[in-house]
Amino acid sequence: MDCLKAISVKEAALLKGSIEIQGSKNTVLPIMAATLLSSGISVIYNCPMIEDVQVMCQLLECLHVKTRLEDHVLTIDTRNASYEVLPDTLTKKLRSSVLLLGPILARWQKAEIGMPGGCAIGQRPIDIHLEGLMRMNVDVRVHKDILTCETFYLQGTEYHLHFPSVGATENLIMAAVGAKGRTILRGAAKEPEIIELCNYLLSMGALIEGVGTDVLIIKGTGELTSCDYCNVYDRIVAGTYLLMAAAVPSDIKLTGIEDIHYLKNVIQVASKLGVNVIKFEHYLSIQSLGKVLANDFKTGIYPEFPTDLQPVLITVLLKAGGNSSVTETVFENRFGIVKELAKLDAKIDIKGQTAFIKGNARLQGHTVKAADLRQGAALVIAGLICKGYTTVTDISYIERGYEDIVRDLQSVGVEATYV
Ligand code: UD1
Repeated sequence: MDCLKAISVKEAALLKGSIEIQGSKNTVLPIMAATLLSSGISVIYNCPMIEDVQVMCQLLECLHVKTRLEDHVLTIDTRNASYEVLPDTLTKKLRSSVLLLGPILARWQKAEIGMPGGCAIGQRPIDIHLEGLMRMNVDVRVHKDILTCETFYLQGTEYHLHFPSVGATENLIMAAVGAKGRTILRGAAKEPEIIELCNYLLSMGALIEGVGTDVLIIKGTGELTSCDYCNVYDRIVAGTYLLMAAAVPSDIKLTGIEDIHYLKNVIQVASKLGVNVIKFEHYLSIQSLGKVLANDFKTGIYPEFPTDLQPVLITVLLKAGGNSSVTETVFENRFGIVKELAKLDAKIDIKGQTAFIKGNARLQGHTVKAADLRQGAALVIAGLICKGYTTVTDISYIERGYEDIVRDLQSVGVEATYV
């Protein structure tokens, strides 16, 4: 799909059909990193066929790990893994490259890796990752975007994260599994992705208590046993289509959703917007009249509303019958969507960390530019509520996390194409 750089979307009058929800990106990436904690073959089912997974495979291959991704089945063979430096040309392509730090240190007691990249949604420092590692006896140096870490051995510790960073919690759990003694992480993130990672590590033989809480107690166990993993559905992709349904009259199904526990926060918001959601055994049935109810919302750490869906929520609220607001509490610079929506005649004011959205918008299709993964997906959704056609350029950002957003929209009757 490399040569296809834009998506054209026509205004939609009705959404009808069903979308198969892909496997979770944010769950599979740390689990891929965790495979380094064992020497063997792991098979990951329901793996999304997306750019970020490809880059993580390339990073693992630098460490002489064999990977094969075919038809949503990812096989990772770490039997011949050996230490290498990870170049910043590759690590910069992906925020989650930093998640390799913990497992590499656990396995080889040293790591030299380029700084991570990822979406430009704020400063995105890695101070919590590094502070936690330093508390585990790691000597850390940063020189010209290269991180050099060394330890005689990882030492279990007690560490309080000053913010419940998802990535830092994942990294420190994986390092702690390979540390000597017991590690207590306080103020840990509780996102579903952390629970999935902990459960995977438990099945590999790790000893972790407090899974799902903000205090995790990890007993170092040394090398683990390779295990297979069946990936959960992507709650952010599912949430994108749930919120989309608020803005257009809809009668759709989201399939591949066995358990709505991880999606409850988004379902609550979608209900407030006017969406009716019914859970069946293997799918969600979603109906709406396309009349969005205005309200005030706030993003937050799990179980609050996910920051990743904030751009979609802002977009949908443009169709509300009155004015609304969305306050962003996780990232300090995540309103990139507002500038592009203005090109479609949206009226949104930003004051501090809150976006004030003028409802009853008459949006006009235009050409807009994706600048990060979630903002890009939100712009495609904006195309459904703009008069005429909307073209979203730079769609490689969207391909980092959505397998095929055009296919998904077509399956509910939207006129969307790659151009
Ligand atoms: C993960 C998700 C991303 C989601 C985010 C918040 C993946 C691959 N990505 O990103 O989709 O938007 O959680 O739910 O799972 N921070 C620091 N110091 C650090 C680390 C983070 O100050 O060392 C700050 C960040 O700048 C940000 C906040 O903490 O303001 C949350 O970041 P974090 O939870 O770490 O997000 P990621 O793990 O990068």
